[in-house]
Amino acid sequence: MAETKTKKVVRKADQYDDPKYNYQDYWAGREYEHAAETMALKRLLKGQHFNHAVDVGGGYGRLSKFLTAFADKVTLAEPSQQQLDIAKIYLKDTPEVEQKLLQAANLKMDDGSIDLVLVVRVLHHLPDPSPEFAEIARILKPGGTFILEFANDAHFLNRIRYGIKGKRVPKKPVDISTKKDAKIAFVNHHPKTIIEMLGRAGFEVETALSGSNLRSPALKKILGKNVRVGLEKVLQPMLAPLYFGPSVWLRLKKK
Ligand SMILES: C[S@@+](CC[C@H](N)C(=O)[O-])C[C@H]1O[C@@H](n2cnc3c(N)ncnc32)[C@H](O)[C@@H]1O
Repeated sequence: MAETKTKKVVRKADQYDDPKYNYQDYWAGREYEHAAETMALKRLLKGQHFNHAVDVGGGYGRLSKFLTAFADKVTLAEPSQQQLDIAKIYLKDTPEVEQKLLQAANLKMDDGSIDLVLVVRVLHHLPDPSPEFAEIARILKPGGTFILEFANDAHFLNRIRYGIKGKRVPKKPVDISTKKDAKIAFVNHHPKTIIEMLGRAGFEVETALSGSNLRSPALKKILGKNVRVGLEKVLQPMLAPLYFGPSVWLRLKKK
Protein backbone atom coordinates (compact mmCIF):
# COMPACT_ATOMS: atom_id res chain seq x y z
CA MET A 1 0.00 0.00 0.00
CA ALA A 2 1.37 3.44 -0.91
CA GLU A 3 2.34 5.98 1.72
CA THR A 4 -0.57 7.79 3.39
CA LYS A 5 0.14 11.49 3.01
CA THR A 6 -0.39 13.24 6.31
CA LYS A 7 1.09 16.46 7.61
CA LYS A 8 4.42 15.30 9.09
CA VAL A 9 6.00 17.03 12.08
CA VAL A 10 9.62 17.13 10.95
CA ARG A 11 11.97 18.16 13.72
CA LYS A 12 15.51 19.18 12.97
CA ALA A 13 17.83 16.56 14.41
CA ASP A 14 21.20 17.50 13.05
CA GLN A 15 23.10 17.58 16.35
CA TYR A 16 25.17 14.60 15.29
CA ASP A 17 26.52 16.58 12.32
CA ASP A 18 28.90 18.59 14.50
CA PRO A 19 32.36 17.82 13.03
CA LYS A 20 33.85 18.09 16.55
CA TYR A 21 31.73 15.14 17.73
CA ASN A 22 32.12 11.53 16.62
CA TYR A 23 29.46 9.26 18.11
CA GLN A 24 31.55 6.17 17.32
CA ASP A 25 34.17 7.40 19.82
CA TYR A 26 31.50 7.50 22.54
CA TRP A 27 31.50 3.69 22.47
CA ALA A 28 35.19 3.28 23.29
CA GLY A 29 35.34 1.83 26.83
CA ARG A 30 31.59 1.09 26.88
CA GLU A 31 31.88 -2.61 26.05
CA TYR A 32 29.58 -3.58 28.94
CA GLU A 33 26.83 -1.20 27.71
CA HIS A 34 27.09 -2.52 24.14
CA ALA A 35 27.04 -6.14 25.35
CA ALA A 36 24.02 -5.41 27.59
CA GLU A 37 22.16 -3.90 24.61
CA THR A 38 22.90 -6.69 22.13
CA MET A 39 21.93 -9.17 24.87
CA ALA A 40 18.55 -7.47 25.30
CA LEU A 41 17.99 -7.36 21.54
CA LYS A 42 18.87 -11.04 21.14
CA ARG A 43 16.42 -11.93 23.90
CA LEU A 44 13.61 -9.90 22.38
CA LEU A 45 14.19 -11.22 18.84
CA LYS A 46 15.05 -14.84 19.68
CA GLY A 47 13.61 -17.40 17.25
CA GLN A 48 12.15 -14.75 14.92
CA HIS A 49 13.04 -13.73 11.39
CA PHE A 50 11.80 -10.67 9.53
CA ASN A 51 11.61 -9.53 5.90
CA HIS A 52 12.46 -5.88 6.35
CA ALA A 53 13.77 -4.20 9.52
CA VAL A 54 14.27 -0.46 9.97
CA ASP A 55 16.77 0.91 12.51
CA VAL A 56 15.29 4.37 13.15
CA GLY A 57 17.86 6.91 14.38
CA GLY A 58 20.37 4.10 13.98
CA GLY A 59 23.42 6.40 14.02
CA TYR A 60 26.38 4.86 12.26
CA GLY A 61 24.72 1.43 12.21
CA ARG A 62 26.05 -0.06 15.46
CA LEU A 63 22.87 -2.14 15.84
CA SER A 64 21.84 -2.28 12.16
CA LYS A 65 24.74 -4.67 11.67
CA PHE A 66 23.43 -6.84 14.52
CA LEU A 67 19.91 -6.84 12.97
CA THR A 68 21.13 -8.55 9.79
CA ALA A 69 21.06 -11.86 11.71
CA PHE A 70 17.30 -11.40 12.15
CA ALA A 71 16.10 -9.84 8.88
CA ASP A 72 16.63 -10.31 5.13
CA LYS A 73 16.88 -6.58 4.59
CA VAL A 74 17.79 -3.79 7.02
CA THR A 75 17.36 -0.05 6.46
CA LEU A 76 19.40 2.36 8.55
CA ALA A 77 17.14 5.45 8.75
CA GLU A 78 19.20 8.28 10.17
CA PRO A 79 18.88 12.10 9.91
CA SER A 80 22.57 12.93 10.39
CA GLN A 81 24.71 12.93 7.24
CA GLN A 82 27.83 12.68 9.42
CA GLN A 83 26.52 9.49 11.06
CA LEU A 84 25.77 8.08 7.60
CA ASP A 85 29.28 8.97 6.43
CA ILE A 86 30.71 6.95 9.36
CA ALA A 87 28.22 4.17 8.54
CA LYS A 88 29.64 3.87 5.01
CA ILE A 89 32.91 2.71 6.58
CA TYR A 90 31.46 0.80 9.53
CA LEU A 91 29.04 -1.12 7.29
CA LYS A 92 31.32 -1.59 4.29
CA ASP A 93 31.17 -5.39 4.69
CA THR A 94 27.44 -5.43 5.35
CA PRO A 95 25.82 -4.61 1.98
CA GLU A 96 22.41 -5.87 3.14
CA VAL A 97 22.04 -2.67 5.20
CA GLU A 98 20.76 0.19 3.05
CA GLN A 99 21.41 3.67 4.41
CA LYS A 100 18.91 6.50 4.15
CA LEU A 101 18.83 10.09 5.37
CA LEU A 102 15.48 10.15 7.20
CA GLN A 103 13.79 11.60 10.28
CA ALA A 104 11.74 9.34 12.56
CA ALA A 105 8.61 11.45 12.01
CA ASN A 106 8.79 11.11 8.23
CA LEU A 107 10.10 7.71 7.18
CA LYS A 108 8.91 7.96 3.56
CA MET A 109 7.99 4.26 3.43
CA ASP A 110 4.72 2.67 2.31
CA ASP A 111 1.97 1.97 4.85
CA GLY A 112 2.27 -1.49 6.42
CA SER A 113 5.44 -2.32 4.47
CA ILE A 114 7.79 -3.14 7.38
CA ASP A 115 7.74 -5.99 9.89
CA LEU A 116 10.39 -4.84 12.41
CA VAL A 117 11.33 -1.37 13.70
CA LEU A 118 14.13 -0.71 16.17
CA VAL A 119 14.59 2.55 18.11
CA VAL A 120 17.50 2.64 20.56
CA ARG A 121 18.93 5.68 22.38
CA VAL A 122 16.85 8.11 20.32
CA LEU A 123 13.96 9.01 22.63
CA HIS A 124 16.11 11.27 24.80
CA HIS A 125 16.15 13.70 21.84
CA LEU A 126 12.34 13.61 21.58
CA PRO A 127 10.54 15.21 24.53
CA ASP A 128 7.20 14.34 22.87
CA PRO A 129 7.68 11.27 20.68
CA SER A 130 3.99 10.88 19.72
CA PRO A 131 4.44 11.95 16.02
CA GLU A 132 7.32 9.47 15.71
CA PHE A 133 5.26 6.66 17.28
CA ALA A 134 2.41 7.41 14.86
CA GLU A 135 4.80 7.26 11.90
CA ILE A 136 6.28 3.94 13.08
CA ALA A 137 2.74 2.55 13.51
CA ARG A 138 1.94 3.67 9.95
CA ILE A 139 4.86 1.83 8.28
CA LEU A 140 4.49 -1.36 10.37
CA LYS A 141 2.27 -4.23 9.24
CA PRO A 142 -0.52 -5.26 11.62
CA GLY A 143 1.16 -7.69 14.04
CA GLY A 144 4.56 -6.13 13.24
CA THR A 145 7.22 -5.77 15.93
CA PHE A 146 8.56 -2.54 17.42
CA ILE A 147 11.60 -2.77 19.72
CA LEU A 148 12.06 0.38 21.74
CA GLU A 149 14.78 1.31 24.21
CA PHE A 150 14.73 4.56 26.18
CA ALA A 151 16.42 6.23 29.16
CA ASN A 152 14.36 5.56 32.26
CA ASP A 153 13.74 8.50 34.55
CA ALA A 154 12.05 6.26 37.13
CA HIS A 155 15.04 3.95 37.66
CA PHE A 156 15.59 2.62 41.16
CA LEU A 157 18.23 5.13 42.28
CA ASN A 158 16.17 8.06 41.05
CA ARG A 159 13.13 6.83 42.95
CA ILE A 160 15.25 6.82 46.10
CA ARG A 161 16.61 10.31 45.32
CA TYR A 162 13.11 11.72 44.82
CA GLY A 163 11.75 9.71 47.78
CA ILE A 164 14.32 11.24 50.18
CA LYS A 165 12.93 14.65 49.22
CA GLY A 166 9.37 13.40 49.78
CA LYS A 167 8.63 13.62 46.04
CA ARG A 168 7.67 11.22 43.28
CA VAL A 169 9.49 10.83 39.97
CA PRO A 170 7.73 13.18 37.49
CA LYS A 171 5.59 11.63 34.78
CA LYS A 172 6.65 14.36 32.35
CA PRO A 173 9.99 14.15 30.48
CA VAL A 174 12.88 15.44 32.60
CA ASP A 175 15.51 17.66 31.02
CA ILE A 176 18.99 16.25 31.73
CA SER A 177 20.94 18.43 29.28
CA THR A 178 24.25 19.86 30.38
CA LYS A 179 25.66 23.23 29.29
CA LYS A 180 27.71 21.48 26.62
CA ASP A 181 24.70 20.03 24.84
CA ALA A 182 22.22 22.75 25.82
CA LYS A 183 21.04 23.20 22.23
CA ILE A 184 20.13 19.53 21.97
CA ALA A 185 16.97 18.18 23.57
CA PHE A 186 18.11 15.72 26.22
CA VAL A 187 15.38 14.14 28.33
CA ASN A 188 14.68 11.02 30.32
CA HIS A 189 11.20 9.54 30.18
CA HIS A 190 8.89 7.89 32.69
CA PRO A 191 8.04 4.35 31.49
CA LYS A 192 4.35 4.69 32.37
CA THR A 193 4.00 7.84 30.24
CA ILE A 194 5.75 6.20 27.28
CA ILE A 195 3.66 3.02 27.54
CA GLU A 196 0.42 5.06 27.61
CA MET A 197 1.58 7.02 24.56
CA LEU A 198 2.45 3.79 22.75
CA GLY A 199 -1.01 2.41 23.56
CA ARG A 200 -2.60 5.48 21.95
CA ALA A 201 -0.43 4.94 18.85
CA GLY A 202 -1.78 1.37 18.52
CA PHE A 203 0.89 -0.72 20.22
CA GLU A 204 0.68 -3.32 22.96
CA VAL A 205 3.59 -4.36 25.16
CA GLU A 206 4.58 -8.01 24.76
CA THR A 207 7.76 -8.07 26.86
CA ALA A 208 9.84 -5.64 28.91
CA LEU A 209 13.45 -5.83 30.10
CA SER A 210 15.47 -3.76 32.53
CA GLY A 211 18.67 -2.69 30.77
CA SER A 212 22.24 -1.69 31.67
CA ASN A 213 21.52 -2.46 35.33
CA LEU A 214 25.19 -2.37 36.34
CA ARG A 215 26.54 0.58 34.44
CA SER A 216 27.23 2.84 37.43
CA PRO A 217 30.83 4.17 37.49
CA ALA A 218 31.22 2.88 41.09
CA LEU A 219 30.36 -0.69 40.06
CA LYS A 220 32.62 -0.39 37.03
CA LYS A 221 35.56 0.15 39.39
CA ILE A 222 34.94 -2.99 41.43
CA LEU A 223 33.44 -5.46 38.95
CA GLY A 224 35.05 -6.46 35.66
CA LYS A 225 33.12 -6.32 32.39
CA ASN A 226 32.57 -10.09 32.17
CA VAL A 227 31.15 -10.31 35.69
CA ARG A 228 28.76 -7.42 34.99
CA VAL A 229 27.67 -8.96 31.68
CA GLY A 230 27.07 -12.33 33.43
CA LEU A 231 24.95 -10.66 36.11
CA GLU A 232 23.13 -8.52 33.54
CA LYS A 233 21.89 -11.73 31.93
CA VAL A 234 20.02 -12.68 35.09
CA LEU A 235 18.92 -9.16 36.01
CA GLN A 236 17.33 -8.02 32.72
CA PRO A 237 14.17 -10.14 33.03
CA MET A 238 14.23 -10.32 36.84
CA LEU A 239 14.18 -6.55 37.38
CA ALA A 240 11.91 -5.68 34.45
CA PRO A 241 8.66 -5.47 36.50
CA LEU A 242 10.38 -2.91 38.78
CA TYR A 243 11.72 -0.71 35.94
CA PHE A 244 14.93 -0.92 37.94
CA GLY A 245 17.68 -0.04 35.45
CA PRO A 246 18.58 3.22 33.67
CA SER A 247 17.31 1.81 30.40
CA VAL A 248 13.95 0.22 29.54
CA TRP A 249 13.50 -2.22 26.66
CA LEU A 250 10.07 -2.98 25.25
CA ARG A 251 8.97 -5.44 22.59
CA LEU A 252 5.70 -4.10 21.22
CA LYS A 253 3.21 -5.46 18.76
CA LYS A 254 1.25 -3.32 16.37
CA LYS A 255 -2.42 -4.11 16.96
C1 LIG B 1 22.65 8.35 20.79
S1 LIG B 1 22.51 8.15 19.05
C2 LIG B 1 21.95 6.45 18.95
C3 LIG B 1 22.29 5.78 17.65
C4 LIG B 1 21.92 4.31 17.55
N1 LIG B 1 20.50 4.10 17.70
C5 LIG B 1 22.69 3.52 18.55
O1 LIG B 1 22.09 3.08 19.56
O2 LIG B 1 23.89 3.32 18.35
C6 LIG B 1 21.03 9.03 18.72
C7 LIG B 1 20.69 9.07 17.26
O3 LIG B 1 19.36 9.56 17.13
C8 LIG B 1 19.31 10.34 15.96
N2 LIG B 1 18.14 11.23 16.03
C9 LIG B 1 17.99 12.36 16.74
N3 LIG B 1 16.78 12.91 16.49
C10 LIG B 1 16.16 12.09 15.61
C11 LIG B 1 14.90 12.13 14.93
N4 LIG B 1 14.03 13.10 15.14
N5 LIG B 1 14.63 11.14 14.05
C12 LIG B 1 15.50 10.13 13.86
N6 LIG B 1 16.70 10.04 14.46
C13 LIG B 1 17.03 11.01 15.32
C14 LIG B 1 20.64 11.08 15.95
O4 LIG B 1 20.98 11.62 14.69
C15 LIG B 1 21.59 9.98 16.44
O5 LIG B 1 22.16 9.26 15.38
